[in-house]
Amino acid sequence: MRNFSPDSLMLAIETSCDETAVAVFQAPDRVLGHALASQVAVHRRFGGVVPEVASRCHLEAIDGLLQKALADAGVTLADIGAVAVTRGPGLIGAVLVGVSYAKALAWGLKVPLVGVNHLEAHVAAAFLYRPDLQFPFLAMVVSGGHTSLYRVDEGLVFAELGRTIDDAAGEALDKGAKLLGLPYPGGPEIERLAARGRADAIAFPRAWLDQRLDFSFSGLKTALRVYLEKHAWGTEQLPDIAASYQEAVVDALSAKAMWAVARENLSTLVVVGGVAANQRLKAAMEERARPIGCEVVVPPPPLCTDNAAMVAAAGMRMMQAGRESGLELDAAARLPVGGGHS
Ligand code: KG4
Ligand code: ZN
Repeated sequence: MRNFSPDSLMLAIETSCDETAVAVFQAPDRVLGHALASQVAVHRRFGGVVPEVASRCHLEAIDGLLQKALADAGVTLADIGAVAVTRGPGLIGAVLVGVSYAKALAWGLKVPLVGVNHLEAHVAAAFLYRPDLQFPFLAMVVSGGHTSLYRVDEGLVFAELGRTIDDAAGEALDKGAKLLGLPYPGGPEIERLAARGRADAIAFPRAWLDQRLDFSFSGLKTALRVYLEKHAWGTEQLPDIAASYQEAVVDALSAKAMWAVARENLSTLVVVGGVAANQRLKAAMEERARPIGCEVVVPPPPLCTDNAAMVAAAGMRMMQAGRESGLELDAAARLPVGGGHS
């Protein structure tokens, strides 16, 4: 086994959902090469991601992407000093393709292997945008499937502070948009309409949950359905309804993020995931953060969507903290953040 030195290059692989991606990475945060293949067009005709099709697409794409990423970086496999791979959570067959490929590479090259949690990788993407980001910080992952708050300490060590007890914030926006007759994904549609509406037009509920750091959005969705049943509405009312609905989501997210910042005595908040693209959310976070001297870091959308550079950013920090995996590394469909390294 070759030793990993801080200037060794890392190869990173992501296959947990419908994007196959390979990165060549140099510490601390340099992406030397990156290659990505999206399966979105393949799955679209089925109306959603088909797991078996995803696994096959990953298998077909991965060799070519590895060659492309190496060529992009101007290096060969002999230059690689470590391999990082997403080990979960995700579609099990899809994750297995990446994990098996990474294990074979690490074994063949005789270099260390590190298994990365996909959600932790999403948070680590913030280092690619802000290389000077300091631990500890608060991280909010807010997407179509997740709404969680984590305290992140030195070595990329996660502790969950809160999560949604029902719908994710993106899911709430998507379901709300559907009730309003808007296309999927609903988040951007709601944001677009909300820009022309009054956020205080309708008093939709916020689930404060006794000041806990957990979230709940299912009551909000019901409140919208009831409102639409009881009132006459049409295209003219849409901007006000969208703005008020979006504000209820934004309010809960930004208030609880700031409670967490205060309770944990932190001064940086990192927001990642698809909903982080929402400009009203960013503005609300900044409004609340400014008076308490907290900085809000929101990486740009290309770093928030699935890629392999974020896997490398996480894997590099885990390696440096001595958290490498053995060749017995396994893929996992479900994987808790914080407790899931082997
Ligand atoms: O992270 P992501 O791309 O995929 C996963 O959920 O895994 O997040 C997608 C979610 C969808 O619910 C979508 O409606 C939401 O992010 N989203 C937005 C915006 N762009 C995407 N929500 C609010 N405002 C946006 N601009
Ligand atoms: Zn993802």
